[in-house]
Amino acid sequence: MCGIVAYIGNKEAYPILIKGLHRLEYRGYDSAGIALLNGGLSVHKTKGKVSVLEEHMKDFDKSGTIGIAHTRWATHGEPNTQNAHPHYSFSRKIAIIHNGIIENYSTLKKELINRGYEFHSDTDTEVLVNLIEDIQTKEEVNLEEAVRIALNQVIGAYAIVILSQEHPDMLIAARKGSPLVIGIGENDFYLASDATPIIEYTKNVVYLDDEEVAILKRGSELKIKTIKNEEKTPYIQELEWNLNELEKGGFDHFMLKEIYEQPTSIRDSFRGRLHPDKGTVSLGGIIDYEQKILNADRIIIAACGTSWHAGLVGEYLLEEIARIPVEVEYASEFRYRNPIITENDVMIAISQSGETADTLAAIELAKEKGATVLGICNVVGSSIARATDAGVYTHAGPEIGVASTKAFTAQVTVLTLMALRFAQLKGTLPKSEYVRLLHEMELIPEKVKKVLDDNGLIEEIAGKFKDSRNFLYLGRGYNFPVALEGALKLKEISYIHAEGYPAAEMKHGPIALIDKDMPVVFIAPNIGIYEKVVSNIQEVKARNGVVIAIVTEGDTTVKNMADYTIEIPETEEMFVPLLATIPLQKLSYHIAVMRGCNVDQPRNLAKSVTVE
Ligand code: G6P
Repeated sequence: MCGIVAYIGNKEAYPILIKGLHRLEYRGYDSAGIALLNGGLSVHKTKGKVSVLEEHMKDFDKSGTIGIAHTRWATHGEPNTQNAHPHYSFSRKIAIIHNGIIENYSTLKKELINRGYEFHSDTDTEVLVNLIEDIQTKEEVNLEEAVRIALNQVIGAYAIVILSQEHPDMLIAARKGSPLVIGIGENDFYLASDATPIIEYTKNVVYLDDEEVAILKRGSELKIKTIKNEEKTPYIQELEWNLNELEKGGFDHFMLKEIYEQPTSIRDSFRGRLHPDKGTVSLGGIIDYEQKILNADRIIIAACGTSWHAGLVGEYLLEEIARIPVEVEYASEFRYRNPIITENDVMIAISQSGETADTLAAIELAKEKGATVLGICNVVGSSIARATDAGVYTHAGPEIGVASTKAFTAQVTVLTLMALRFAQLKGTLPKSEYVRLLHEMELIPEKVKKVLDDNGLIEEIAGKFKDSRNFLYLGRGYNFPVALEGALKLKEISYIHAEGYPAAEMKHGPIALIDKDMPVVFIAPNIGIYEKVVSNIQEVKARNGVVIAIVTEGDTTVKNMADYTIEIPETEEMFVPLLATIPLQKLSYHIAVMRGCNVDQPRNLAKSVTVE
């Protein structure tokens, strides 16, 4: 939610800020703005994407070596120019950018109005900057202290950067609940919501912790204090991702590039962990917690969106292979329903970004009740990675397309490894079968590659159905979550209504929708309860439904019934989601492109949801 980027140093700030905003645009894109200090403090804002701001800036002075910039995903106030960031303080001497929500903003706003402040936007952010200014004047303190005092008064989440006309050599930044990374350059500092705008300038970064304030002065060392004024020593880490991973690399869209990266991202997620020749799986990140997991009453998986779907696949895997009871929870529901959690529970929180507010809150709740909390995250050093007791990173690399693709299959890969590791420790599978599964897993990236090579078949199917108004996705067992994920992908990027359902549940409602205009996508590999799925396909055909089926290579039964079939290579049932998901991602992608939709930045969505 919202992208923050800021710079202070000896280079021109504007090109760094604009490029940074483009890199962060996936976080929110309903308006954008920039503040530069060059003599006076100037703020420029526009509704819409960063390119609109860039166009607008053509007529203005863009010089200056210090600046802050923002791309917004609206929470308080509609997406328009007034509500875009940065926001000036009342005197127009201070400008602020903010990601997060100030929950007590209306009380603070009333007090400030009573003290003569006027507001030009509907945002909570403008309240915060005026609160800082008010404290500075009223209490006659310096800006740094005023920021600290103000942050002690606000309730909610924030990542902020402040630029003041009276301090041309200083930026002040702070965070609570919303991420903020500081890049340490040769003679300069870069600030951003995540490392993507920083990576091309420096690999040395400091992740600000909750309730920490950073003071970035030109020509000085980075200073960090808590909002209670305690000094902290900055912990400098090295970034692992590189610039190539952030570019489109010849693909039309990030989403397509990320779909095609899956053979690599799946392999990277099991590399060094899967040892078929030794007949073992090792997960260094959670080794100290293995006994705890084996003794646990149950595993609670908490996640949101696509990560929740990965969690559902995890439930099938962990219960079937490792024989550990699993419950999968929407983090947003779990946190508010007074769930029963004990010290004998282990939570696995799954999150690509590692910043999802509801997932973080579910983790805090589980920790409070004494449960052990493990994480499966893609972003190293993210809030969730740091809030959990231990975890296993997915090595999918940066995912820029808002609709998650390679992160999903990487999450499923890690969950598969977990299930296999726990199965090994518990001895739930005969050795020969176990080793066979490990060998099969090693082949999955090659099989994914084969699925990606579809000779244009999926594009052709997309062309036939691009104007459909509804889609139904059906699967059973491991493929029920795949159906949910397929439907989610389609609605996210093409805006076609789509529902995922367990195939047999279709009879209890969705069957009423079936007619000749209703494409029904079946995930029907020739394994598990295949015959039952075949019956479900017959039920749809009997009602003139149009069937698109994902089938195992060489299948003839379904091929004779379905209108279109897409083949995936044969594999063990537990690995089918890693293959069957791929054609569904491609189908959504091509339909969205044909409908002229913005695939990488679909309307109303954001990549990382840092508000509840
Ligand atoms: C947003 C994104 C989804 C993602 C979900 C959970 O809704 O648009 O793609 O699945 O958040 O995000 P997380 O980073 O926690 O996996």
